[in-house]
Formats: sequence, C-alpha cells, structure tokens
Amino acid sequence: MTQKVILKKLREIVGPENVLDSPESRTAYSYDAAAMTPCLPFAVIRPADAEAVSRIILLANEERFPVVPRGSGTGLSGGALPSVDSVVLLTNHWNRILEIDQDNMTATVEPGVITAQLHQAVERLGFLYPPDPGSSSICTIGGNVAENSGGLRGLKYGVTKNYVMGLEAVLPTGEILRTGGKSVKDVAGYNLKDVLVGSEGTLGIFTKVLLKIIPQPETHTTMIAFYASMDQAAKTVSAIIAAKITPAMLEFLDNTTIRCVDAYTHLGLPLEAEAMLLIEVDGRRPVVAEDAERIAAICRQYQATSVTTAQSEAESVRLKVARRSAFTSLARVKPTTIMEDVAVPRADLARLIERINEIGKKNGILIGNFGHAGDGNLHPNYLTNERDAEEFARAERTVFEVEEAAIALGGSITGEHGVGLYKKRLLESMVGHPSVTMMRTLKTMMDPNNILNPGKVFDLRPKCEGTLPRDRDKILKFEEVAWL
Ligand code: LAC
Ligand code: ZN
Repeated sequence: MTQKVILKKLREIVGPENVLDSPESRTAYSYDAAAMTPCLPFAVIRPADAEAVSRIILLANEERFPVVPRGSGTGLSGGALPSVDSVVLLTNHWNRILEIDQDNMTATVEPGVITAQLHQAVERLGFLYPPDPGSSSICTIGGNVAENSGGLRGLKYGVTKNYVMGLEAVLPTGEILRTGGKSVKDVAGYNLKDVLVGSEGTLGIFTKVLLKIIPQPETHTTMIAFYASMDQAAKTVSAIIAAKITPAMLEFLDNTTIRCVDAYTHLGLPLEAEAMLLIEVDGRRPVVAEDAERIAAICRQYQATSVTTAQSEAESVRLKVARRSAFTSLARVKPTTIMEDVAVPRADLARLIERINEIGKKNGILIGNFGHAGDGNLHPNYLTNERDAEEFARAERTVFEVEEAAIALGGSITGEHGVGLYKKRLLESMVGHPSVTMMRTLKTMMDPNNILNPGKVFDLRPKCEGTLPRDRDKILKFEEVAWL
C-alpha cells in the first residue's frame, strides 16, 4: 500500500480533519525538546478514542509503518522524535480530568491533561499530586507516565511511577489493556503497570491514567542558601539527610547557572557564589518550623554565605524562580544547549560535579550544572554551537565522558529524562547484556512488527532504522560494540 492509500485509510478512521499531512504540520512535529536532528513524519494524526487508536495500530501492523506517540513534545531524550516514514499520534487533545475520587484519593485523567492543571485541580480540594517535572506547566500526564518523569519533589515523594495505580493502554498489537485499579493492595499476577510506566512509547499508548493523590501538607517553607565552596554545599546536603530531615525539595545550581539565571531574571543573586541550594520542607506547621530552623543552622554550620527563608508564599515562589528558570537561562548563552541528565548515589554528587568540571575543562566546553541534589540527579548543560563542527564534536565527547563517569560512580545515564534516542548508545554498558536482552525479548513479544516508537531505548537490530543522533559514525560504533 502506498503512503497515499494509508493516508486515505487513516482519514477514514480519524476523520479528514484529524490527519495533518501538510509540510507545515509535518515540520511542526518533526522534533521534540532534545537537541537532535529533526525527522519528518509522513502524517500527524489525532484519534478520538482508544478504539480509534486500536484501529490505527492494526493498520500499522498490516502496512508496517511506525507509530510515534506524542504528548506535548517536551521530552529531552528524543522519545517523541519521529522515525523515517512514521505517523505521529497525538494524545494532547485528550485533556479531561475524568474524576477526582476523594474517598479513595485517586484522580482518573486522560493522557493529555497538563501536569500543572492536575496540580491545581487536586490542590483546590486539599490534595497533592507530587510529581513536578521542570516542564510541568506544559507537559502532559501521558508523557510523564511514558517517561516516568521525576522532578523537584523526588526526594520526599518519589516519581511518576509511585503514583500510577492503573492504566488503560493500547498495546502494539492493537489490543486495549486495562491494568491496575483503585485498590491500594493488588498483587494479582505480574506487575504489568510498571512494565508500561517508563516504556517511552515503545510498549503502549496510554488512553486513561489512574493516579494516586495524597493529602496536601498543611504548610511549607522555602529557603535558599549560597556557598563560596561547592564542597560545603554538598556537605550541607549530606548533613540534612544525616539529620533525618527529608525536604520536599533539595535543589542545586552551580556558579555558571547562577550567573546565567541572574542575567536572565535580574533576581540579584550573588554572582560570585559557587553554589546555591534551594530547600523546601513541608508538613505540619510545628514540624516545618523546627525543620526549617535546623536546616538553616546546618547551612550556616557549613559556611553558607547567606541563608534566606521565605516569609510569604509570594517570596517562596520568587525563590523557586531561580531554580525553575535555570534551563531557559542557560539556553540563552550559546546557540546550542545539550541538556543532560545523569544520576549517582546521593553521597557521590560532589565527586560527580568535580569529574564533570574536570572533563569540561579538559575538552574546553562550558558547562552549567543544576539539578536535584537530594536525588543525586544532575543536569549538566553543555553550552555549545552545533554549526561549529569541531566544537560540537568536543561537546558530544564531553557528554559521553560524563555519562561514563556517572556509570563508574555506580550511577545512571538518565535519572528522569529517559533513554530515548540520545542515550541508547550507552544503555547496555550501564544495565548489562542480560537486562538489555530481556528488554529486547519483551519488546519483540509485545510488538512483533516493531510498530510502536521503533529504535527508541534500544535497537532490535545493530543498524538502527529511523532517526539517528547527529554523530552517526560514533553512534554506530557504540552500537557495534554493544552487539559484539
Ligand atoms: C528540570 C528538568 C529539566 O529539572 O528535568 O528542570
Ligand atoms: Zn530535572
């Protein structure tokens, strides 16, 4: 069947107005938020419901075209990047909150609900949906589930997988799977829900999500502390944990990031500071007050040059602006920003930062670091210019070397942004051959024709089909090694 005939069939399933195949639409959906080469899909479709998705997937199996699911496209590892001759399947128009069940403390939502809108809806009723990715004002719950997104409240509250209680998903064979439910306890059979969470669009397309919500903490207190030494900031993080305090947020910015944030926001941050910590504690009033005081004392004990505690909600929001605008601020400095995501055991964070700075210096690449200090999850941002081939190659080498350093420290090549296309070259060296083999076996069993988001997370064949990251030669070399 030609693409023209496939388009005709797609129009029959979803209605002509929901098949976008103009050059403009295809271009608009040819990339996501990862710094990777765009790739044009042959069509973009907006199905009405799970049944329509199922029919599309059946057609894709007959005609062997790849289907790439997409929420808001804010992913940072290329998970929503179309592959060659693929159809992009949009889910962001399914944006209804179907139910907030206060007795069972659950929210049932369609996958296109914006994360921040869910936050607001449950907070109005005195509840909290804790996962809070950096992009929460625009990302979707479906994308969060597909990527198992983390965010700023990971340390105390965990990440998306800790809140998914049930899923409705269209499988790569077109079947509609419903798994999980409102029972807090449910151990009937294999935990299929957790196979699907974080499957990065390769094992299912979510059409409904059942989420756990929790009572909203009575109050919170936000603080920022600045340091003349990175080491002292890292020691503060360890000391807070050692004091058995679990902040809701324990975030970090380095000097380059502080400078860039200040240039962008004019917040008046101390430009000479080597590190900034943003700390938030939440819970019952007396406990929060006591924890905030203990934390301030710990910050001072480790030579913080200043410690500020927000006195109002407006000030709390203002303190958080410095952290929330980190990526935008860094992205203004050079034409290309490679936003990375590595994680190590929390106690090794200072060592990782040291290694990153060494590697950056050796390769002559400017790096701004910020991230979730309490989680040991760091976002090194490589500030470069992709039009300068020599510099860009050095930047990519720096990325690789830092990922290898994270692995060597017992960490991960991704704490929360996913493997997608960008990280698959290192997946096997991190998780090991038996794990990747099991993942491949699962994918082949569930998606025998490799229809759903092929080439993401890992390749089923050594020479991957579809979009490749920019440095084609290097990527293939890594794959060859992985397959030996
Ligand atoms: C953040 C995103 C980039 O932490 O993960 O802001
Ligand atoms: Zn993050």
